[in-house]
Parts: sequence; C-alpha cells; structure tokens
Amino acid sequence: MVRILDPQLRRALADRVRYCHEMGIYDFYRRDFNEGGRFSGSTEAKSPTGEMFAASLSLSRSELELREEMAARRSAVVPIIEENIFEAVSPQPEYGVADPVAALQRIREDLGDCTRCKLHRLGRKQIVFGVGNPGAELMFVGEGPGADEDAQGVPFVGRAGQLLNNMIKAMGLRREDVYIANIVKCRPPGNRQPERDECETCSPFLMRQIATVKPKAMVALGATAAKNLLAMDAPMSELRGRWYDFKPAGSDPAWPGARLAVTYHPAFLLRDPRQKGEAWKDLQMVMKYLGIAPPRKAAE
Ligand code: URA
Repeated sequence: MVRILDPQLRRALADRVRYCHEMGIYDFYRRDFNEGGRFSGSTEAKSPTGEMFAASLSLSRSELELREEMAARRSAVVPIIEENIFEAVSPQPEYGVADPVAALQRIREDLGDCTRCKLHRLGRKQIVFGVGNPGAELMFVGEGPGADEDAQGVPFVGRAGQLLNNMIKAMGLRREDVYIANIVKCRPPGNRQPERDECETCSPFLMRQIATVKPKAMVALGATAAKNLLAMDAPMSELRGRWYDFKPAGSDPAWPGARLAVTYHPAFLLRDPRQKGEAWKDLQMVMKYLGIAPPRKAAE
C-alpha cells in the first residue's frame, strides 16, 4: 500500500521527481544501509548519460526498492518517503480541541470571508466549507462547488449531489453519517476546474478539516480531487482500484490516518452512466474496509 504525505510536501517531491524525469533521469540507486535497515546518506539518481544527481532523503530499504521499481516503469510516481524527514509543521489552533464541532468552527473562523485566492473575485457568492458528521468514519472530497452549492453554501446539493446521495444510500449510509468537502471552497467561474494555485491555497483548510474529522476512510471523487490529494498526475484507470494511506502533516499522532480510495465524480457518472458499475466496485471496496454490509437493494 502506498503511504501518502502532506500534499504540499508530496507535491514538492513529485515536482522534483518529475523534473528528474524531464531531464531524462529515471534510475535511482541506493548506497549503503545502516543496521536498522534505513538508508542514511544520499540517494543517487542517474541519467542515461551517466550523470549522477544526489538528494538527501532518509528512505527505508523497501521504499527504495519501490522507487527502483517505479523508476523502471518510467511512469509518473509519488515519492514514498519517511514521514518525519521534514518535521517543521506548526500546530494548528484547533489542535488539542477535543470537540470536533468546535475545532471545525475554529477552522471556519480562520477561513473568514476568504480572499486568499482569485476565486473570491470571480463571482463566488459564498464559501462552501463542508458538511456532515464531524466524527464521520467516511469522508468524501469533491472538486469544487457548482452553481447550486454556491447558492446554498453546502457541497453536493445539485444534480451531482443527488447522485452522491444515492451512492451514499447504496452503501447503507445516510448523508448525515459522512463528511463532505471539496478541494476548493469557492465556485470556479463557469464550473471550470480549479486551478493549481487555487487548490494549493485552499488545501491547508481541507487538511485541517480532515485532521479534525479523522475519518477512517476517504473517497476522492474524480480526477481533480484525487490528483490534488495524492499529488499524482495519473489517469483514473491507474488511480482507482487501490488504497492510499492519507494523513495530513501535523495531525494527531494517535490517529493512524485514513485510507483513501478514488472513484468517479458523480457529475461524470451523470454523463456516462455506464461507469456506475465501476464506481460501485470502488464503493464496495470502501464498505468492506469499513465493515459495512451491502444493503439488500442498492440505490439507482
Ligand atoms: N461538484 C463538486 O465537486 N463539488 C460539489 O460540491 C458539487 C459538485
């Protein structure tokens, strides 16, 4: 299973690996290991022309083996690294607030009438923070509010929301049981995809929400959510059908983190209903992990 780190850190590392690939550097070699089986020193990346590049990371043997395997595939990779190599994560104000309702309130207050990215001046009516059970075992993350969500201030209340409700019901859950949020909290104009700077600006607030709710499982709805949460640029066919470990940096050490699955966005399923069966497979994987027995009759 792939372990996932703080999105900003992962994005920085993914950028570095991508940069290496763009430079024609694919092969990463390990040097010596100390007794604990941990590599202590520098990893080396070698270009086809034999040039050596060094990176100071601390990697376990299996992590390096995985890297070598991924390098051999010559495909987009997520760097798998030790969680504590960059420790400097300052505690958030809600850290230690036992009541998740109060903690979420704190995050909402910090967000304020947000003007941190350009979406605030591109026609958004209101911020769509997130909704649901603050102690949910399952959290869904979508892309960003559409017109209905922007009007009501609640995620997934339009047509895609209706389908998400049906998906939740098919799992034997109620919408109130889960927590629902988006990668960006303001509606992108014309329902365009949120841009990278918008996602990055909004990300710390989503991470704090996740760290507060502490779900056991998360479902990324669609490629935008998946790519942003995982800092991976891969097609849905590669992203789906597997688990990722997800734990925001600085979150409660007593919380083991969530397992994250990827499925199709409900809006995509509305356009291509033939893929509903595939999405149902993804949800069944989540149900199995959460110990939810499938209800007798799945919703449409
Ligand atoms: N699509 C999303 O990604 N999020 C919403 O809240 C609504 C539609």
